[in-house]
This record gives sequence, structure tokens and C-alpha cells, in this order.
Amino acid sequence: MRKLVFATNNDHKLRELKELLNSEFELLSLNDIGCSEDIPETGPTLEINAGQKSFYIWDKYLLNCFADDTGLEIEALSNEPGVYSARYAGDDKSATANMNKVLEKMASETNRKAQFRCVISLVIDGQEKQFEGIVEGQILTEKHGEAGFGYDPIFMPDGYELSFAEMAAADKNRISHRGRAVEKLVGYLKHLK
Ligand code: IMP
Repeated sequence: MRKLVFATNNDHKLRELKELLNSEFELLSLNDIGCSEDIPETGPTLEINAGQKSFYIWDKYLLNCFADDTGLEIEALSNEPGVYSARYAGDDKSATANMNKVLEKMASETNRKAQFRCVISLVIDGQEKQFEGIVEGQILTEKHGEAGFGYDPIFMPDGYELSFAEMAAADKNRISHRGRAVEKLVGYLKHLK
């Protein structure tokens, strides 16, 4: 089985990705390869940050790797929080504080349109390829549901009456930004020889 590092230690994401990859690859986390340092994510765009992470692993460990970077882009807030989604309300990366900040800023806003955008940077033998996945939806006026992570309780994908945090993991994975980007990644990997 082919080995591939996923440059994350986020258990939610690892579980999601293992389901999506259907055991096609042996997925290794940063813990699995003994990488315990904080990989820099200092770029102004999702594309630059994703590449920064995957090249960090390639340069240091010479292992094929992919990394993702996601932003919640809210139309009425000029695509904020975007690349700053994790730290929107402060460096402690609190999901509750981040959601509260969005809900406050959106309190009197009628345009609730938003999207999650995920960029995956894959580095194979030092060559990079990127994949993008987008899911469009609405910012709810209050939190709904307990599942998932991050902004899931306040995001309702178009075509559904449930927030991401009210959906079963498999249903979210099928339509999510990361699910769509991973689908492209897996399609590409399957044709690699
Ligand atoms: P990351 O680049 O995937 O770490 O995502 C940055 C931030 O976006 C996270 O800290 C979360 O707040 C948010 N985020 C990413 N993916 C999701 C998701 O699937 N649901 C809800 N929030 C997410």
C-alpha cells in the first residue's frame, strides 16, 4: 500500500480522510512520522499556506505529502474570516469564540451567503499539484447541532435544512469542501504510476 503523509494532527480530519480514501493509501499523520513541531502557516492565501505545509514535510522528511488549508468565506464580510478562520477571535483558536464573533458581526445582516473553500497541496517527489473544493451555503443566526468541529454549527449547506453539525459525518464528507477537494486528490492519485 502506498504511504502518504497528511500534514495534520487533527483527529476529526484524519478520520474524515481515512473514510474518504477508502484504504487506498496508508495515511500517516504528523504524529506517525514523529513531526511534533508547529508547521508555519504564515501566508496571505489558502494556496500559499497549503503549499507551505506540504513542502515543509517534503523538504524535511523527503516523504510524499499533502496538506490542506480551509477558510470560511462570508460574502457580507468581504470573504472574512477566510485564511484567518482558525484564529478569527484570537490565538487560542476557540471554535466557540470564532462562531460568536461571526454571529455578532452578522447580527443585522440579511445576506447570509458563505462558502467553505479548501485547498489541498499535494507534493509527490518534490512536484506540487493543488486541488480546490467549495461548498456553498448560509450562515445561520444561531448554533445548531453538536457534531463536527469549527464553524459546523452555524453553517447550513445549500440544498439541506440541517447545519453541518446536525449531519451524519458520512453525509457531510460527501458534500463538504474537503470532501470535494479530496475527491479530486484521490482521482489524481489513482492515475499516478
Ligand atoms: P484548516 O485550514 O482546515 O485548519 O481550517 C481552518 C479553520 O477553518 C479551522 O480552524 C476551522 O475553524 C475552520 N474549518 C475548517 N474545516 C471546517 C469544517 O469542515 N467545518 C467547520 N469549520 C471548518
